[in-house]
Amino acid sequence: MSGSRNRVAVMHGVNLDTLGRRDPEVYGTQTLNELEYRVHEWARELDLEASFFQSNHEGEFCEYLHRLPDTADSVLLNAGAWTHYSWAIRDALEVAAKPAVEVHISDVSSREDWRSVSVFDGLVAGVVSGKGIDGYREALELIKAELDL
Ligand code: DQA
Repeated sequence: MSGSRNRVAVMHGVNLDTLGRRDPEVYGTQTLNELEYRVHEWARELDLEASFFQSNHEGEFCEYLHRLPDTADSVLLNAGAWTHYSWAIRDALEVAAKPAVEVHISDVSSREDWRSVSVFDGLVAGVVSGKGIDGYREALELIKAELDL
C-alpha cells in the first residue's frame, strides 16, 4: 500500500517509558518495547505502517506533533497524565490536523476523578480505555476506519 495514507504515529507521553515496572496491577507487566513490537505487528496486519515516539518532555511531544503532517497520516496517542491537563498538547494535536485516536491501558473513568478529564475531548475520533495492551489493536482498527473514510 505504499503511496497511500497508511502511516500511523504511535505516541507515548510522560512516564510510559516505565511500563513493565510501573504498578503492574494497573498497567500490566509488558515493557514499552514489548508493547511497541505488538503494535507494530498489529499495524502490519491492518496494512498500516507504525512509527513510534515517547517523551517525558512536553515541549518535545508538541514539537513531534508539529512535524506530524510531514511524517504520518494519523496518530494514536497515549499521552499519560498530560491527557488530563496539557492544553498545550491539545493545541499541538489540533495543529497536526490528522485523524487521532486516544488510548489508555487502564480504565481512566474508574480511577481518580482527575483522570476522567481529557483535554482531547472533541478532537479525537475515538477513545479506547481500560483494555490493557489489547486496546491498542482496537485503537488501530479505529485509525484504519478513519483513514479508509
Ligand atoms: C494512562 C492513564 C493516565 O491517567 C496515566 O497518567 C498514565 C497512563 C493509561 O495508559 O492508562 O500515565 O494513560
